[in-house]
Amino acid sequence: MISSPLMTVMVDAARKAARSLRRDFGEVENLQVSRKGPGDFVSAADRKAEEVVRDALLKARPGYSLVLEEGGIIEGTDKSHTWHVDPLDGTSNFLHGVPHFAVSIGLEREGVIVAGVVFDPIKDELFVAERGKGAYLNNRRLRVAARSDMADALVGYGTPYLGRGSHPRLLREISSVMAVSGGTRRMGSAALDLAYVACGRLDAYWERDLQTYDFAGGVALVREAGGFVTSADGAAEPLASRSVCCGNESLHRDLLAILKKAQATA
Ligand code: IPD
Ligand code: CA
Ligand code: CA
Repeated sequence: MISSPLMTVMVDAARKAARSLRRDFGEVENLQVSRKGPGDFVSAADRKAEEVVRDALLKARPGYSLVLEEGGIIEGTDKSHTWHVDPLDGTSNFLHGVPHFAVSIGLEREGVIVAGVVFDPIKDELFVAERGKGAYLNNRRLRVAARSDMADALVGYGTPYLGRGSHPRLLREISSVMAVSGGTRRMGSAALDLAYVACGRLDAYWERDLQTYDFAGGVALVREAGGFVTSADGAAEPLASRSVCCGNESLHRDLLAILKKAQATA
């Protein structure tokens, strides 16, 4: 585990929100659900969990800015630090009673993601990483999978909600990856997709049309587990492009090449 004041703040905030989510998941049928847009649901649990994280982070680091999924941007006095918070990543899973979702918190310093916490409250799996200090799942140090052959690799991806992103492009990408990989998965939580790459359950993962709070926490995990993360177009920092491509050095390179080729065949 990482015992730093920063990690204590992040883990405490995630655990508090997770307690609230766990309670609400048990009563998922009774939740008041509103429609934010086609295919994109926001639940009362989501908002409650975000308030818990926001309050905990603001109390511990009053000057830091926040990018919140529900609450938008809160500008802090400290211009070099920004939290990217998704209190409930995997909302569709949550609302359908699928036990695969997480609280995700990432910290950006001067444009670089330096720490991340992704907590799955149902499986009680806490993924943490801090720059230079490694990545951990509960108390176990993480390494990305060592597989280097795409034919053996399990590759995660995400699909944009209705009305967002380019579905034809994604379909080309998926069929290109399916043609050469060992298997593909669309699991429904970008934060956990990245966490699963960090711990070797997935060998690689890509997704476009994300928001920074979907992936900031997870990017820190993959990098500290020895993995490579860029945007889906190969840019070094995924924050600006809001897309992600990751894996170990070799699969990351291969996946980027497959995505590029799928683009060229448009
Ligand atoms: C979504 C999940 C999903 C990804 C979507 C995200 P939400 O976040 O991370 O896996 O494919 O792009 O918007 O809405 O569950 O917080
Ligand atoms: Ca969310
Ligand atoms: Ca999300």
